[in-house]
Amino acid sequence: MKIRTVEWKAGRVVMLDQRLLPNREVYRIYDDPSDVMAGIRDMVVRGAPAIGVAAAMGIAMGARSLSPDRFARDFERLCRAFAATRPTAVNLFWAIERMRKVVRENAHRPSETVVKLLEREAQSIRDEDLDGNRRLGEHGAALLPKTCNVLTHCNAGGLATAGIGTALGIVCAARDAGKKIAVWADETRPVLQGARLTAWEMKRARIPVTVITDNMAGALMRRGIIDAVIVGTDRTAANGDVANKIGTYSVAVLAAHHGVPFYVAAPVSSIDLSCKTGEQIPIEERAAAEVTHVGGKQVTPGGVKVWNPAFDVTPHDLVTAIVTENGVARPPYTQSLAKMVKGGAAEAPVREPASAAPRKRRTRS
Ligand code: MRU
Repeated sequence: MKIRTVEWKAGRVVMLDQRLLPNREVYRIYDDPSDVMAGIRDMVVRGAPAIGVAAAMGIAMGARSLSPDRFARDFERLCRAFAATRPTAVNLFWAIERMRKVVRENAHRPSETVVKLLEREAQSIRDEDLDGNRRLGEHGAALLPKTCNVLTHCNAGGLATAGIGTALGIVCAARDAGKKIAVWADETRPVLQGARLTAWEMKRARIPVTVITDNMAGALMRRGIIDAVIVGTDRTAANGDVANKIGTYSVAVLAAHHGVPFYVAAPVSSIDLSCKTGEQIPIEERAAAEVTHVGGKQVTPGGVKVWNPAFDVTPHDLVTAIVTENGVARPPYTQSLAKMVKGGAAEAPVREPASAAPRKRRTRS
């Protein structure tokens, strides 16, 4: 059964409160765009594509109460407020830009018509993501062997999108294609998206899942258990550098060392060709309390300094392939990603970077 992550219901936005999972399944109903903004900031909804969908719906909802006399100016204010919620996931800005385009292209129409078109655009963003997940999943599933242990980091599943997910969409598609898939989920400190959300989703989908703490991934790979790493992305630069949940970079280094392919599931909406390299991707830093507290309980001495970047950047030479809804991009990414963004098709020429080329697999020890 599809997860109802973000929905548009009778002019209101409904979101599953992911902060409470896996213990409680609570749906929050929003009729004020400021509350949707807070929901994005506080991670009621999270995951790059889901954030984009939530923002588009929040903007469509907010546009309804704008005064027709100042529609364009106030609409821009609304967009800017949504853009200030989280800085790294480019899907947010991509979705806002699509909403802006509707207003620009229909400036000659009455505002009530524009409001209807905005609602329709928000629904399209959702529907396209849903369909894109399915296609991305099929492209990715073809990369996996018949029996496969997949390690994933964070949550790039249905909870992070409008459909079956990106990284976990590949897992589901592989299972549906008859492959024997098992998932190993990094717990993903500090917000525990892996332990709480990926494990919840996989259990629900009846796909075998084993949770590990983040510091166990190396030992697992050294034993030869992992056949592939698949992660999502919040923003992928033109050269294939990948911003994703903090800790992804460490997993990529481990995968290269152990000769395990490292795949990134990247819907076109999360590819940002205007960022030439990962250096240009803004990395969100979040509250210290996410690190100092676990389950509401303080685990560090009071007043200790904390560094809490929510994302890191994995350099493109550690990435074996980037799977999009339009096909599989291989190095050199500057060419293959541009092709995917334009509509894609076949795989780009394969030239594995030395560090991502499969090395001799280590045996269990
Ligand atoms: O801080 P979050 O939970 O929003 O971070 C989410 C991730 O890093 C996901 O891996 C990414 O958005 C891809 S989701 C398809």
